[in-house]
Amino acid sequence: MFQSDLFKGKTVLVTGGGSGIGFAIAKKYLQLGAEVVISSRKEEKLKVASDQLNAFGKCRYAVCDIRLPEQTEAVVADILQHEGKLDILINNAGGQFPSPAENISPKGFAAVVNNNLNGTWNITYAAANKIFIPQNSGVIVNIIAQMFRGFPGMAHTGAARAGVENLTKTLAVEWSKYHINVNAIAPGFIQSSGMEQYPEEFKKGMEDVVPAKRLGTVDEVADLTVFLSSPAANYITGETVYIDGGQRLWGDLWKM
Ligand SMILES: NC(=O)c1ccc[n+]([C@@H]2O[C@H](COP(=O)([O-])OP(=O)(O)OC[C@H]3O[C@@H](n4cnc5c(N)ncnc54)[C@H](OP(=O)(O)O)[C@@H]3O)[C@@H](O)[C@H]2O)c1
Repeated sequence: MFQSDLFKGKTVLVTGGGSGIGFAIAKKYLQLGAEVVISSRKEEKLKVASDQLNAFGKCRYAVCDIRLPEQTEAVVADILQHEGKLDILINNAGGQFPSPAENISPKGFAAVVNNNLNGTWNITYAAANKIFIPQNSGVIVNIIAQMFRGFPGMAHTGAARAGVENLTKTLAVEWSKYHINVNAIAPGFIQSSGMEQYPEEFKKGMEDVVPAKRLGTVDEVADLTVFLSSPAANYITGETVYIDGGQRLWGDLWKM
């Protein structure tokens, strides 16, 4: 689908790259010639993943909890030291749990917002200030979630992802003078390791509320990610692209 050397000479950081969508994104960049650093909290998982990914190209891992600014600063400094630059940041790390809004405690709400919104900002802030702004170039792709009609059943992540979507627009404008492109991808239901963690009851009949009548694949999200960070998308910035089989336009997310 893409030229095999499309990202030759480029360095990519994929947060949450040790599993699911992030792993598929990392693999795609490697297949297209990039050097990739994957990061997340669990070293053992990252080690196994980077060993697998090394079959496709040069990949290494770095442990980094995006909730901790000292760790996001450190991972960016580490990339500067080892790779010498960063061209593309994929903000994919995140997590949430399904719950009726009234059962989400302030602590649980804050935890999800802290991870999915503040964590995204922590790594973005570090990458922009330490690398993208000084080098006068960069691409940021934020993986958010389909929350076009709100996010009934996951109020915390809906609020956090809406925050990231707004941040995407703001940064696209503010940082265009540094030649930094910022876009977001909003996946609907994607068959992935993240999806497997949800209860069976919750997932029952999911395909039925998607006009495409199936879940999306991690490779489909990866293809969109590489497109948005490729020269073909140079004039696209501040945009959110939905990849949801039309689900945002029709049907309930899940039984309330
Ligand atoms: N699957 C879907 O249908 C779907 C739909 C919409 C949006 N999304 C979003 O897409 C992203 C990838 O999802 P997925 O399905 O591939 O799920 P996943 O396998 O659970 O991936 C999430 C990744 O984020 C990492 N992570 C979580 N918290 C982190 C933190 N504080 N610091 C650093 N890394 C952290 C996890 O690794 P560690 O545990 O090692 O930290 C994990 O590798 C997530 O943000 C998810 O919410 C998924």
